[in-house]
Amino acid sequence: MSPLVIKSKTTQDTEFVRTLLTAQFVTTSIVRKGEIHDVINDNGYIAYYNGQQSGLLTYLLHKDTVEVTSLISLIPAQGIGTALIEEVKKVAINEDKKNIWLITTNDNISGIEFYKKRGFYVKNVYKNAVEQSRKIKPEIPLTGLENLPITDEIELELAIEHPYYKVQ
Ligand SMILES: CC(C)(COP(=O)(O)OP(=O)(O)OC[C@H]1O[C@@H](n2cnc3c(N)ncnc32)[C@H](O)[C@@H]1OP(=O)(O)O)[C@@H](O)C(=O)NCCC(=O)NCCS
Repeated sequence: MSPLVIKSKTTQDTEFVRTLLTAQFVTTSIVRKGEIHDVINDNGYIAYYNGQQSGLLTYLLHKDTVEVTSLISLIPAQGIGTALIEEVKKVAINEDKKNIWLITTNDNISGIEFYKKRGFYVKNVYKNAVEQSRKIKPEIPLTGLENLPITDEIELELAIEHPYYKVQ
């Protein structure tokens, strides 16, 4: 049996979700495109690896699109991130959405590579947008991964190519 199981997020996961979100984003809120959003109650999925909570993906449904509001894997290179992306693809197909999108920041080079290898493309680069975001959320650090200055928002998008295909 595969050690990896994906389950829908429930209210029983709230403390795990809070721990992951605050480790990733300092608070449970994200700022993107000039708006703050608290992720804690978003719908999503929890990855269990050998029975342990090991990953999280949350999303928001918009009119035509699905926004990934968080994706965090605690155990690298065991397929957790990929399996969570596969789940949100099913959501987008079943909800008849045109695409899945998310905002990350310029320092997250490995995250951007991860998404690109899974069919996402860079849709927009919002240069210096994080300067504005810090006015809304001062907790955003000045530097991020690989000690790079966090300056730009990068919008990644995955087009859903088969809108009439329904996942059972
Ligand atoms: C980006 C992130 C979600 C990837 O999660 P992950 O669980 O390591 O993802 P996967 O295991 O599915 O894939 C990672 C690599 O491991 C490989 N891999 C997957 N299963 C594997 C296995 N059983 N054995 C060996 N390698 C494996 C994948 O092929 C992939 O390599 P590739 O990208 O070169 O194809 C994770 O690094 C993370 O949480 N980063 C911090 C937060 C972040 O950046 N989030 C996204 C932006 S908001």
